[in-house]
Amino acid sequence: MTAQVARLGNQGLLYQERTEIARRFESDNVVTLYPGDCLELLRTMPDGCAQLVVTSPPYNIGKSYERKTALAEYLSKQGEVLSECVRILSPQGSLCWQVGNFVSNGSIVPLDVLLYPICSELGLRLRNRIVWHFEHGLHCSRRLSGRYETVSWYTKGDEYHFDVDPIRVPQKYPGKKYFKGPRAGEYSCHPAGKNPGDVWVIPNVKHNHVEKTSHPCQFPVELIERLVLSLTTASGLVVDPYMGVGSTAIAAVRHGRRAAGAEIMSEYLKIARERVRLEFAGALRTRPMGREVYRPTGQVAARPGE
Ligand SMILES: C[S@@+](CC[C@H](N)C(=O)[O-])C[C@H]1O[C@@H](n2cnc3c(N)ncnc32)[C@H](O)[C@@H]1O
Repeated sequence: MTAQVARLGNQGLLYQERTEIARRFESDNVVTLYPGDCLELLRTMPDGCAQLVVTSPPYNIGKSYERKTALAEYLSKQGEVLSECVRILSPQGSLCWQVGNFVSNGSIVPLDVLLYPICSELGLRLRNRIVWHFEHGLHCSRRLSGRYETVSWYTKGDEYHFDVDPIRVPQKYPGKKYFKGPRAGEYSCHPAGKNPGDVWVIPNVKHNHVEKTSHPCQFPVELIERLVLSLTTASGLVVDPYMGVGSTAIAAVRHGRRAAGAEIMSEYLKIARERVRLEFAGALRTRPMGREVYRPTGQVAARPGE
């Protein structure tokens, strides 16, 4: 074990901790990247240890890392994983499941709708169905091109942690004041910005996005930063059962949280390790949270990172 000073988080926290990346889960690991099936990892984790489980599972659409199965089989497997995720969640914890559509014969099946009864049966309460809107993707010819996916935010109970302050966005009319009544003359909107709402416009990781790796469907780190900041507290544990190239772990350690996740493909795991190492060193380039989406004027090339 190498003891090093690792700077974790933008709150200026200095941890005298391990910065190597563990392969097996221990509750004081800063980052665990388990090389294998997520159920194996989850089963080694104690009840109630995680503040947030956030993931984008395979969509069962035949990507290189998945075996396309009958929908019922896929849902039953998801149910097994979800049940373990609920077990490891703390009573104030949240589960965010980011999915798109399963496509069969050109007809779409929204996975969040199919997963809702399973989550509900496990006792989870749906707080928001966040629409993640992006402007690039496959062009469809016999239906409208899909330009959003969803993040279903569930809580384990009714007493849950949620802090909107770190994720406020600028007000549209910051100078607006009450013009009558007892508060006339005072600012009518929150001075620190507004609640970001449940439609998030964040570029997806395609082509020349600064975060693009060889993974076909990473999610952007800023999407997860918002969830980490609002749904967890300093040094809380964030778990991603389907870790891919480590985007969740990066968002977690960037804000002084711990992270654990599993990945079955060694190629992606290797990239995840390297990206987390770069993040520890403060050298990983990502699209900054809150940056406006680039709007080209006339015939200009898209800027890298957008
Ligand atoms: C949609 S991708 C997640 C990408 C991730 N959000 C990122 O930003 O890199 C799903 C990932 O789950 C992995 N996977 C599939 N089945 C798995 C399993 N049973 N256990 C762990 N990982 C699995 C795939 O290899 C793939 O990298």
